[in-house]
Amino acid sequence: MRIDASTELFGIIGRPVGHSLSPAMHNAAFEHWGINAVYLAFETDSPAKAADAARTLGIKGLSVTVPHKETIMDFLDEIDETARQIGAVNTVKNLEGHLSGTNTDWIGAVEALRAVTEIKGRRIVVLGAGGSARAAVYGLTRAGALVHIANRTVEKAGQLAREFGCSFSGLDELSQTEGDILINTTSVGMTPLQNISPVPEKELDRFSVVMDIVYGSKKTRLITDAERHGCRTVPGTQMLLHQAAAQFEYWTERQAPFEVMKKALLEAATR
Ligand code: ATR
Repeated sequence: MRIDASTELFGIIGRPVGHSLSPAMHNAAFEHWGINAVYLAFETDSPAKAADAARTLGIKGLSVTVPHKETIMDFLDEIDETARQIGAVNTVKNLEGHLSGTNTDWIGAVEALRAVTEIKGRRIVVLGAGGSARAAVYGLTRAGALVHIANRTVEKAGQLAREFGCSFSGLDELSQTEGDILINTTSVGMTPLQNISPVPEKELDRFSVVMDIVYGSKKTRLITDAERHGCRTVPGTQMLLHQAAAQFEYWTERQAPFEVMKKALLEAATR
């Protein structure tokens, strides 16, 4: 790749982003299409200053990650209906200083799952009721799934369930819930809770598909437990990949080179 005076800049903002896998995927995609652009990781505490920097320096697009997905919304010129309903922006596009925000996390959840199973009419149990759950529940209900939300704090499950027309319960009542697809959106499995599963292993038998949005260099405990129980599994890298592919298309209006991005992601994840 040749970097010159017309190279365009893209990046991710969040904290921490030092181990982000997004630069590997997006740079591979730019290279595939011969687009003169680079994608970097910007660790910042200030979404406001990052938005200003994007306008001032002409940064063409930003991925937004934890903890700025909600706060960035105050500093954009436009937010689409999808991001508004989810209540979070994970993608910003800069058109001549006008910043617009959207959300592709829900596409990540839906497409990662759709790669292994039909969604419409299926009973899906979503673990968690935080920001990641909101994006997943938005996408899955739109795709016609019957969603049940199970969360440690049952009041939060109730709030989210009412908003999207789902059923809900506490995480500890999982054995009484119906469903044959299970999706973990809680942070259980992430550092410092790695090697822990959000559900007792015996609960996994009745699920045909188990998806985790937690990812790392190794499989999560939930995914290895589910494999042992004969479930089809979808690791967190799949959601990451699909949301990134949708970001790339939003920025460039070209088809995301999916296999190229997948290879770059898997190489970076095991590095
Ligand atoms: P994110 O934006 O990644 O979804 P979040 O909004 O902080 O992060 O949500 C974290 C989710 O993980 C919540 O559903 C949280 O449950 P509570 O609402 O009860 O806090 C869940 N979570 C975090 N730690 C957990 C644990 N040790 N056991 C069970 N659930 C946990």
